[in-house]
Amino acid sequence: MRLFAKIIIVTTSVYTTLGGKPSNVEQLTKANFSERIKWATGGAVVEYRTPWCGGCQMMEKSFNDLANRLSSTAKRIMFATVNCDEEAAICSRFVTVGYPTIVVYHNGSESNFKRFVGYLDKKELDEEVGKELERKKV
Ligand SMILES: *[C@@H]1O[C@H](CO)[C@@H](O)[C@H](O)[C@H]1NC(C)=O
Ligand SMILES: *[C@@H]1O[C@H](CO)[C@@H](O)[C@H](O)[C@H]1NC(C)=O
Repeated sequence: MRLFAKIIIVTTSVYTTLGGKPSNVEQLTKANFSERIKWATGGAVVEYRTPWCGGCQMMEKSFNDLANRLSSTAKRIMFATVNCDEEAAICSRFVTVGYPTIVVYHNGSESNFKRFVGYLDKKELDEEVGKELERKKV
């Protein structure tokens, strides 16, 4: 009985962490980073983070909300995170200062991107990152 109650509490808190909806945020590693960026011809938004970064945790819900709203298989728009405690090779290419760092990649290209450094609140995420994603950069 007590175990059952615990399981329900754990399940509920995982659900809440994801913003109440299933998350559309992928986890990328060196095994699939290049392949997924290339796929995302409509744009990719990647959050570089670590498990211990406080700003990353504070941003998680807004980031998931934005992903739920804008990610699209049909438009090839992808949202992802990279854990920089494990993916040093990718992170050293795109993280300049610290965490979180968000990079918006355009047109399936690893060299056509805009970087946002540091914590963004929900409004900044929606407006700045959302706008950048919609901008067709040549
Ligand atoms: C990328 O690969 C990792 C294992 O290296 C896996 O856990 C993850 O789910 C993969 N992500 C995608 C989007 O395929
Ligand atoms: C997008 O990428 C494709 C393939 O690399 C290229 O042919 C096309 O010109 C690019 N478009 C823009 C707007 O950058």
